Amino acid sequence: MDWYNVLTGNEHGEFHKEKNGGFKQRKTYLKEAIMSALSWKKNLETGIEWQDSEHQELFGKINALLDAMLGCRDEEEVFNLVKLLDSSMQVHFRAEEQVMGEIDYTERNAHNAEHVQFKKLMLKIKRDLIEGISPEHIFKTQQKTIEWFLNHIRKSDKKLGEFIKSRAAA
Ligand SMILES: [Fe+2]
Ligand SMILES: [Fe+2]
Repeated sequence: MDWYNVLTGNEHGEFHKEKNGGFKQRKTYLKEAIMSALSWKKNLETGIEWQDSEHQELFGKINALLDAMLGCRDEEEVFNLVKLLDSSMQVHFRAEEQVMGEIDYTERNAHNAEHVQFKKLMLKIKRDLIEGISPEHIFKTQQKTIEWFLNHIRKSDKKLGEFIKSRAAA
């Protein structure tokens, strides 16, 4: 699978066919998304040690997956990295969900619903990989998972972190 062409839109990738300068836009978008996924930023910290270290670990796994895609590694390796990311995410979600239950977090249901959203995305990636769906399509889904991850940490996990801190201080 030639992930590199998928990412850069080289040769005759689907991105060339997009109208109204869509290709250029998409390329910039992809580059930005990849760059932001590749670096951990201070503003992603929730201030809760276990949460931050788990998030950074998950970041590493997302990066490993992107590396495998960019390096055009074989499908089995990509699939194994997807599975690894998926299982690590499940463990992380369970940890957060347990804490939310313990501290009776008011926005628990909405937070859990976002976790479910991510699980569905991972399921879709796995299904697409098994079915041999085009790399471009899979990469788009992968982009969604990165976006989800960044948005979820920035908004929901940080909010949860604040709540945990306020409970600890009370
Ligand atoms: Fe979360
Ligand atoms: Fe989280």
